[in-house]
Amino acid sequence: QVLDPPDGDLKGVRVLVTAGGTREPIDPVRYISNRSSGKMGYALAETAANRGAGVCLVSAPTRLEPPAGVKLINVETAAQMHRAVTELYPRVDVVVKAAAVADYRPRVVADHKIKKKEAGLVVELEKNPDILLELGRQKQHQLLVGFAAETEDLINNAREKLINKNLDMLVANDVTMSGAGFGSDTNIAKLLFPDGRIKSLPMMDKLELSDRIWDEIVKLRKTVPK
Ligand code: CTP
Ligand code: CA
Repeated sequence: QVLDPPDGDLKGVRVLVTAGGTREPIDPVRYISNRSSGKMGYALAETAANRGAGVCLVSAPTRLEPPAGVKLINVETAAQMHRAVTELYPRVDVVVKAAAVADYRPRVVADHKIKKKEAGLVVELEKNPDILLELGRQKQHQLLVGFAAETEDLINNAREKLINKNLDMLVANDVTMSGAGFGSDTNIAKLLFPDGRIKSLPMMDKLELSDRIWDEIVKLRKTVPK
C-alpha cells in the first residue's frame, strides 16, 4: 500500500475528530438517525494518531473498532456531542468535524414506547444546535475543518458552509456519486479553502483521503496566522 504517512508531522498536535451519525430519540426504543457509517471520522483519527497527534475521537454510534492510541468519547445525540466538543475545544489545536449531526431532534421524547393507536403519527422536530457554526464563532487559535455532504450544487453549497462557519478548510462530497460518501470505503472529495482555492481529488480510500486532509492541515498550520 501507498499509505505510509510522512513520519510524525503531527507530533504534539492535539486534534479533535467527530464521527458517526447522531441518534435522536423518539421514545425509549426508537430514534431518528442518518446513513453515516463513521468510517471517514475513524480513518481521520487513525491516520492522525499514526502521524503523532494526540487524538480525541468524539463518536456517535458506529459499528467500527476504535483506532489504537485514540481517546474515544462515545455520545449518542447531537446535544451530547455538542457538550463534549464544547468542553474539549479550548484545549485542542485542530478540529475535524466528520460527524453527520442530526439537524433536528424530536421536540419531546415520549417516556414510554409509543403505541400504534392511530392511523398516522406526526413527530414534531426542533432544530439542534449547529456545533460547527458555534466553533467557528468562538474560534481562537484552532484550525477548523468541516465536511459537507451534498446531493446538488456541490461547490456553491460547500462554499457557503465554509464561509458561514468560519472554517479553514471544507471537505465536500457529492454523496450521489457511487464510490462517495455514506457507507462507502472510498470518497470523491473536493477540498475548499477560504482564499477560493479548490482541490479536486480523485476517488480514493478513506484512509488515503484522511492522509491527504492531514497533509493540507499541516500546510495550513504553517501558513494560517493565528
Ligand atoms: N454540523 C454540526 N452541527 C450540526 C450540523 C452540522 O457541527 N447541527 C457540521 C457537520 O459535522 C459538518 C458540517 O457541519 O462538518 C456540515 O454539515 P452538513 O449537514 O453538510 O451542513 P449543514 O450546515 O447542516 O446544512 P444542511 O444540512 O442544511 O446542508
Ligand atoms: Ca445537516
